[in-house]
Amino acid sequence: MTATPLPVVVLISGRGTNLQSIIDATHDGRLAIDIRAVISNNPGAAGLERARAAGLHTEIIDHRDFPDRPGFEAALMQAIDRRRPGLVVLAGFMRILGEPFIAHYLGRLINIHPSLLPAFKGLNTHARVLAAGAREHGATVHFVTADVDGGPIIARAVVAVRPGDSTEQLAARVLEQEHQLLPDAIRWFAEGRLRLNGAQAMLDDVACPVAPRQAYTA
Ligand code: GRF
Repeated sequence: MTATPLPVVVLISGRGTNLQSIIDATHDGRLAIDIRAVISNNPGAAGLERARAAGLHTEIIDHRDFPDRPGFEAALMQAIDRRRPGLVVLAGFMRILGEPFIAHYLGRLINIHPSLLPAFKGLNTHARVLAAGAREHGATVHFVTADVDGGPIIARAVVAVRPGDSTEQLAARVLEQEHQLLPDAIRWFAEGRLRLNGAQAMLDDVACPVAPRQAYTA
């Protein structure tokens, strides 16, 4: 039996290394999905080049072309829904999304965030982790809800903060983990193993673990 690969739309705003990790996973057979489109709110996003290089359909829905957020999000939803995705992945998508958008995709919208949520929601996480003197940092993949960076956690990977770490060094080690975590979560969803049950992410019908897993080793 050959299952139809899950149709996926990926939203980006910037350099697109997480998008690249998804593309690479599909190319080397780790991830059987159909990336129907890569959509960016930023026409200059380097990730668009990565998508084009992989032969993927790209679209730009520039938030600056719309007078307000509802207008932008309505256009974004139309562009997404034309591709009929079963899953929408925020891979470095840097716009906060409103309730109608989130309600429309609830349970099929996931995000990758560069911290061990619920710690360090928001921007500039690496610098804030260093300033706080935290010993551990990491990445989280979660279902998106109206609670920004507060949606049900699917998985986290922990990275030790090393003495003398620069923001860049720490960010690079976290990014390596993101590149494993996000394709993994997409694969679980594509395999029908991952779902949102109310306020809880479930993997294989078991509540997703609260403890972060150890970092993947290269
Ligand atoms: C990543 O750190 C991701 O966790 C955050 O934005 C960054 C995007 O990086 N949401 P890239 O565009 O995937 O390289």
